[in-house]
Amino acid sequence: MAEIAVTAPLPGDALARLEELHTVRVRPAGPPLVGRDMVSFVGGADALVCLLADRVAAEVFALCPNLKVVANYAVGVNNVDLEAARTSGVWVTNTPDVLTDATADLAWALILAVARRIGEGDGMVRSGAFTGWQPALLLGTGLQGKILAIIGMGRIGAAVARRGVGFGMRIAYHGRAPRPVDGVEAEFVADLDELLARADVLSLHCPLTAQTRRLIDARRLGLLPAGAIVVNTSRGEVVDEEALVRALESGALGGAGLDVYEREPVVHPGLLGRSDVVLLPHIGSATREARAAMAELVVDNVIAALAGDQPITPAVRPLVPRS
Ligand code: GLV
Ligand code: GLV
Repeated sequence: MAEIAVTAPLPGDALARLEELHTVRVRPAGPPLVGRDMVSFVGGADALVCLLADRVAAEVFALCPNLKVVANYAVGVNNVDLEAARTSGVWVTNTPDVLTDATADLAWALILAVARRIGEGDGMVRSGAFTGWQPALLLGTGLQGKILAIIGMGRIGAAVARRGVGFGMRIAYHGRAPRPVDGVEAEFVADLDELLARADVLSLHCPLTAQTRRLIDARRLGLLPAGAIVVNTSRGEVVDEEALVRALESGALGGAGLDVYEREPVVHPGLLGRSDVVLLPHIGSATREARAAMAELVVDNVIAALAGDQPITPAVRPLVPRS
């Protein structure tokens, strides 16, 4: 029987399947585990199941010799030192696919909410400020025929592009290489600056890496056409939040829809008072269906890795797997 350390309870019954096979320690819900607290929590465990705000640094791999797999309950794995995992012989797994539609839906909820001023309208009705239909009440932005610019045409980017076609948008994207999407006419733009200069709506779907940290900085925000809408459902650190606030304050942008923040859960105070932004609490994958499927996938990944097999959705393949 192997020992599995789980940093927080997961939705659904997936962990019960692990308990049938192994000894499972589940930490009660609490603040993220970081630094030495993570090392002591993992201790002699063979597997770690963790959340996206938990940090799995190199010292965890060095000081927890039994650890064979880190199963992240997220598609993003920027909270794990991937190179240390690889060289230490530890699998890192994530939860792609099962959250793609949920996250793409939420990106679209933000696009529509900003373009059509849903938050402002909701606030107006609740506060009693709605006094009847008016020709120019809360005019928003039409999306049809406009350019939806996607950075990162992975699974989620492609799902956002497919929905964009349904809304009559033209799709253009940037990434490391062209990634054709079935049934979608999408233009690959190799030069990011050129894409930004044409973006009516910019939606971010790249992973957070050394290359994408603060990719959307003051200079690049300055390239966006007047009135452009910026939507981020990827990782907050992909955007320079201070620069975004300044761009919004200058009146250059049409608004922003954010599900993620640079210093999560802290949100830049310059965003909180603005009516042209829609702010969500990192709920991209938060449907009952997606979160239950993510838990099942995490469990399948742990079971496979501990059986000496390749996990279902590895994010990092170890140089030489620990046994
Ligand atoms: C959520 O942000 C995820 O990476 O799954
Ligand atoms: C994640 O699932 C992605 O590839 O976008």
